[in-house]
Amino acid sequence: MSADIGIDLGTASVLVYVKGKGVILKEPSVVAYDRDSNAIKAIGEEARLMLGRTPGNIIAVRPLRQGVISDYTVTEKMIKYFVQKALGKRTFKKPRISICVPSGVTEVERKAVEEAAYAAGAREVNLIEEPVAAAIGAGIDISKPCGNMIVDIGGGTSDIAVISLGGTVVNTSLKLAGDDFDEAIVRFMRKKHNLLIGERTAEDIKIKIGTTYPLIDEESMEVRGRNLVTGLPKTVTVTSSETEEALREPTGQIVEAVISVLERTPPELSADILDRGIMLTGGGSMLRGLEELIEERTGINTMTAEEPMQVVAIGTGQFVEFSGGRKEY
Ligand SMILES: Nc1ncnc2c1ncn2[C@@H]1O[C@H](COP(=O)(O)OP(=O)(O)OP(=O)(O)O)[C@@H](O)[C@H]1O
Ligand SMILES: [Mg+2]
Repeated sequence: MSADIGIDLGTASVLVYVKGKGVILKEPSVVAYDRDSNAIKAIGEEARLMLGRTPGNIIAVRPLRQGVISDYTVTEKMIKYFVQKALGKRTFKKPRISICVPSGVTEVERKAVEEAAYAAGAREVNLIEEPVAAAIGAGIDISKPCGNMIVDIGGGTSDIAVISLGGTVVNTSLKLAGDDFDEAIVRFMRKKHNLLIGERTAEDIKIKIGTTYPLIDEESMEVRGRNLVTGLPKTVTVTSSETEEALREPTGQIVEAVISVLERTPPELSADILDRGIMLTGGGSMLRGLEELIEERTGINTMTAEEPMQVVAIGTGQFVEFSGGRKEY
């Protein structure tokens, strides 16, 4: 039995979509391996738990830092592992694999992803641009000659694109996304409270009380970290308006990039975008206040897709279903 698979190869997580079944696997893109023997110790969730907690000889890495393959061999093993895990024992025939890549990747990086998928056992490989996959997954009919703006904010990269007739007309890719929001919170806590916190704690703050637009009702939470002056553990109360201050710079850069893409958009397509609005996708877009911020600065109605973290995987998989995986967008 043959299978068609769509893979969203993200810096933060890998999602696998299997035709007829939907998104059946979602795991962090982390690999742990033994530095001495090069043997892989764990992949995915199991490996994530080892990040920052490994003994000397075991290293846990994110092979896809910033949306591109920084470590080819490890990425290949990771793709292989996820494909096998997703398909289980029913792999008599080699699968046809569609993988989405960030729109900014170079030819060399595209080749690396393609080869990794073949090496992982694919019979046929199709690469789809992330914004096109995101648009399909968000339910947009991309085959029409009509402009749609997609802002996909992941963990490591933000892809901003205007799509029409199944292709990207104008786009930009920023190496700044959800993980940079966490880093901005870490920096803010250090400067404002003399408190050193880890990236996991910063992400927690972002998800629980984070906002990039002033809230009507202030929220707060207690955060533990290390006092940079005394070196001892310390608890601090952080408010949502503090997160707004911390996140102003990175989210401002995303807004600037959105505006620069709008400035380069042909007028007919601009008119379509004004009608249809801007669609936000990706986990990073779940930050509160982003819709309001973009709407305020651009004057264009902005909305977040349903299941923003899954849309790229869904779109990649549906691309296989619609086209039989033959065309390359
Ligand atoms: N509720 C939430 N609020 C704010 N941010 C969130 C929320 N849930 C997840 N995130 C952020 O979403 C980001 C991961 O998003 P996603 O899974 O779309 O990235 P990715 O596709 O792996 O990365 P990329 O597309 O850059 O390769 C992380 O930075 C995470 O902190
Ligand atoms: Mg992504």
